[in-house]
Amino acid sequence: MTTATTSREPQRINTVAARLDSILVNRGIDPTAGPTEDPSERVTALELAEGRIPPRYRGALAGHRQVASWVDEVTHEARPGPSGTRGIALGPSLLIAGPTGTGKTHQAYGAVRSLLTAGVRLRWEAATTADLYARLRPRAGHDAERDLATLSRCPLLILDDLGAAKQSEWTEEITYRLINHRYTHLLPTLLTTNLPTAALRDAVGDRVASRLAEMTTTVVLTGADRRRHPAP
Ligand SMILES: Nc1ncnc2c1ncn2[C@@H]1O[C@H](COP(=O)(O)OP(=O)(O)OP(=O)(O)O)[C@@H](O)[C@H]1O
Ligand SMILES: [Mg+2]
Repeated sequence: MTTATTSREPQRINTVAARLDSILVNRGIDPTAGPTEDPSERVTALELAEGRIPPRYRGALAGHRQVASWVDEVTHEARPGPSGTRGIALGPSLLIAGPTGTGKTHQAYGAVRSLLTAGVRLRWEAATTADLYARLRPRAGHDAERDLATLSRCPLLILDDLGAAKQSEWTEEITYRLINHRYTHLLPTLLTTNLPTAALRDAVGDRVASRLAEMTTTVVLTGADRRRHPAP
């Protein structure tokens, strides 16, 4: 029975392919033409993504030189998908460090906007570490493992305020599993922290700090707290 089904398979595929071709021709599309990128798709992706960016950062620009060059690198590495648009690929990560209010979260969302503007199709997730732990805390009717898998596997993750939340063995384990997955699979991750290197190591543990040291380039933002001293 298995053999009979398999021998009919190529014929079935040809019939389906012919049907698809005729649908495309009826719609005025040349089925032999390669995938093309519709500029309007790019605008739509940007609009959809902007809808998910918190309003405060919706107009953010990745103006910092090192953040802009990370965007260039990731854009360059992006691979064409089935629709012809380029999807985010494996690549480097960035740790944006600096005191309160220097613009770390602004740069992180600015980077997402720049990638989308450059036409890179990406699925992304963002969370502060405090929200991450709250979201993953075991509770009835919630599949925390699935949630952790979604964040671990998504092509681009913003993990904001690393080391800022109160730590416990449980938070260390969650951070380790998340970072280790992204480290192992070379998934681009934008991290921000208020902590200097040694304090961050104490906060997240040496195993996480060691992986971050290898997988990220550190960008240090300096200057005044922009909330208290906005640019004129
Ligand atoms: N390059 C910039 N141009 C204009 N406004 C900016 C810029 N960078 C940051 N801001 C504004 O400054 C404020 C603080 O920025 P942001 O929230 O990114 O700081 P942060 O470093 O993430 O602070 P925290 O450590 O408290 O999380 C926000 O209102 C943000 O919109
Ligand atoms: Mg921030």
